[in-house]
Amino acid sequence: MKIHYLAITLFATLLNVKQGFCQRNGITPTGAVVSVQANGQKIAIKTSNASVEVTAYTPSVIRVRMDSKPLDTDFSYAVIGKVTPTKVNVTQTDKEIGIATDSLKAVIQKTPFSIAFYTPDGKMINQDEQGLNTSWVGTAVTTYKKMQDDEHFVGLGEKTGALDRKGSGFTNWNSDIYGYSVTQDPLYSTIPFYIGIHHGLSYGIFLDNTYQSDFNFGASNNRFSSFGARGGEMNYYFIYHKKVADIIKSYTYLTGRMPMPPMWSLGYQQNRYSYYPEEEVMHIAHTLREKRIPADGITLDIHYMDRYQLFTWNKDRFPNPAGMNAELKKLGFKTTVIVDPGIKVEKGAPAYESGLKDSVYIKYPDGQPYTGQVWPGWCNFTDFTSEKGRTWWRKQVNFFAQSGVSGIWNDMNEISTWGQKMPDNVMFDYDGKQTNHLQAHNVYGMQMVRSSYEGAKEHFPERPFILSRSGYAGMQRYSAIWTGDNRAEDDHMLQGVRLLSSLGLSGVSFAAMDIGGFTGNPSIPLYTRWMELGTFTPYFRNHTANQAKSAEPWTMGEDVLDITRNYIGLRYQLLPYIYSTFYESTQSGMPVVRSLAINYTFDPKVMDATFQNQYEFGNAFMVAPFESGKEYGKIYLPQGTWYDLYTGSVEKGGQEKIVPLTISKLPVYVKGGSIIPMQSLVQTTAEQPTDTLDIHVYNGSTANSMVYYEDDGKSFGYEKGDFYKRTINFDPQKHAITFNAVEGSYTSHFKHIRLVLHGFDNSATITAGKQQIKIQDGKYSFLNAASTDIKERYYADACPVKYATISNQQGSIQLKY
Ligand code: NOJ
Repeated sequence: MKIHYLAITLFATLLNVKQGFCQRNGITPTGAVVSVQANGQKIAIKTSNASVEVTAYTPSVIRVRMDSKPLDTDFSYAVIGKVTPTKVNVTQTDKEIGIATDSLKAVIQKTPFSIAFYTPDGKMINQDEQGLNTSWVGTAVTTYKKMQDDEHFVGLGEKTGALDRKGSGFTNWNSDIYGYSVTQDPLYSTIPFYIGIHHGLSYGIFLDNTYQSDFNFGASNNRFSSFGARGGEMNYYFIYHKKVADIIKSYTYLTGRMPMPPMWSLGYQQNRYSYYPEEEVMHIAHTLREKRIPADGITLDIHYMDRYQLFTWNKDRFPNPAGMNAELKKLGFKTTVIVDPGIKVEKGAPAYESGLKDSVYIKYPDGQPYTGQVWPGWCNFTDFTSEKGRTWWRKQVNFFAQSGVSGIWNDMNEISTWGQKMPDNVMFDYDGKQTNHLQAHNVYGMQMVRSSYEGAKEHFPERPFILSRSGYAGMQRYSAIWTGDNRAEDDHMLQGVRLLSSLGLSGVSFAAMDIGGFTGNPSIPLYTRWMELGTFTPYFRNHTANQAKSAEPWTMGEDVLDITRNYIGLRYQLLPYIYSTFYESTQSGMPVVRSLAINYTFDPKVMDATFQNQYEFGNAFMVAPFESGKEYGKIYLPQGTWYDLYTGSVEKGGQEKIVPLTISKLPVYVKGGSIIPMQSLVQTTAEQPTDTLDIHVYNGSTANSMVYYEDDGKSFGYEKGDFYKRTINFDPQKHAITFNAVEGSYTSHFKHIRLVLHGFDNSATITAGKQQIKIQDGKYSFLNAASTDIKERYYADACPVKYATISNQQGSIQLKY
């Protein structure tokens, strides 16, 4: 009898081992399903080794939570989108559980637990790699997905490397890497969200886990893609849509979208490490105006502080900060100042003492504040993961409001400390859940900018601008990001473009790189190309390191000055378009810098490394950046009609093309069907443009529309409906250009609309009802050099256009051509 029993036990154990249910070599698999409990949209599952919860979060999003112990209380710093009521059909057999919404179906195999996702018509989108599925090694959890034939991956936030992540692996651990290389990983921020593409299908996976996380897209293996974290739950959201734009929309439904930026933050920003004293700052501001380089922002780096102590001004360098900032405002500039999280440990220093008194600093388990070294010397650090710490910081932000500052630039918030080895046993509140550095590290920077944003919103008289180096998924709700300490090298400029594209794919629209390069000195051609490119980036800031040579636009000779002035001027003329594009980001998460993987997802050329630096800037422009030394570049024009921005010459899409490159022009194309609102040239956004809004319409074979958006650019009135918005449509089939009726209570600054028609044939007439609108033939130049010499040498080209002016009435405007 005893022998019989032993034999059965042995057989069962062997079977378990064979089927992979048992711990082997320290690896714990999920095991087989032992119980299933469906409760509305949520299905709770117990397996032999894990607790699982699968939720139909929205019709297009299924959330999977798994832990080798009972699941914890649900908590996330990233996700603010709630479960939406969704019709869900749960079915069960001996072998499978089916969870189907109208848009997506998950099928769970019971033995062992493994999950696959299908389209409603049964196409497999994504499935666990059979035999590996999800498992734990110690506290680390990993989910393995079968690598599909010809599968490509894009996104994952601020990651170097190719646009297509296939064959690469990445780690998320926010790190301060001065002068990083173009293959460096990790960098400063963590956005554990990527998009997979294969067989005409696209999906998104967001791993919401703040521990160090690792992603593998076929690096060192030919079997799977995988994602996981060194601690915490397996907690991922599976998103399926036919279009990448909708995947981003769902992802930003979950993690939130950016608020409207202040208009001035979209103007040109002049920066260096560091401008001081006050005379130098004013000299920079005056020079920008004298040389007629449009600009809106001056940014102050760490030297404005008294011995780098937060919430102080160095009184010798800046005796009257409020006075200086008021003076700058009169000149049409806003001031952004840098802040670091480290508060210098100094007896009697007001900020330090107040933080100590309120007990806001992160501590070791024995209660001693953690002390690390940064610019000011030994520092303590606010616990931004506690409401108490955030409240304290919000109060401190009033210091900047009192000095007339308009923007807060959050640096070193990975946390960076000299030695870069912050101990694991530093404790964080983690909003009441008390944890250690390992779990809090990646979210610290995001919680810092949350505090800065909320503090600024409370104390600043106008919409604040917040910039951050570090971040986590969802940071777009509070802050813009820049890609840290790049180098003044060609491949950094191009890598920077891919970083911005990838951030855009990952929900962060308001992104920047140091234009001109942070470390080192750019060559003149590189500087020129980079500044041209800056015009077509979301936040346009020229920044350079303390040891580098000056890099203001006038430091590289007259030609460069004129070329950069032209491009910055173009940026200002494009502000109505750029602002409307940002509005789109606030509504749908659609980024400003758009990888071609968004609109041309299944075109194989998009994943080709030759064309991976091309991107769309909003809906109308395609930008093709190249190294500064190149005389020719190979571009790819995707399907459609494309216009050369400078000459208006028309190219057919679906072709590769070799184009000559010059120092004075960045290759930019406009998509047929585009509608581009523009204004007259101004020197700052504080200056009013003329009262005519140019609406450029580019003829094309497909219908298109854009939402034109305007508000006061500075208050939060738009949240209460104080905006002016209308959809503008171009329909080539109906030969119609229509302006829908205006929505919102704001009165547009523009009294007239001048249509600037590109590619319309000579016989074109325009009628509004029975009324014929006068058309004039003309030339339009996007770059208007101030000096005739430069104009003749560089910008003699112009686009043939037709002009027609109408009045900007509130009701709908129907035009036929
Ligand atoms: C590091 C930042 O990345 C850089 O932009 C800044 O100039 C320096 N810190 C000094 O504050």
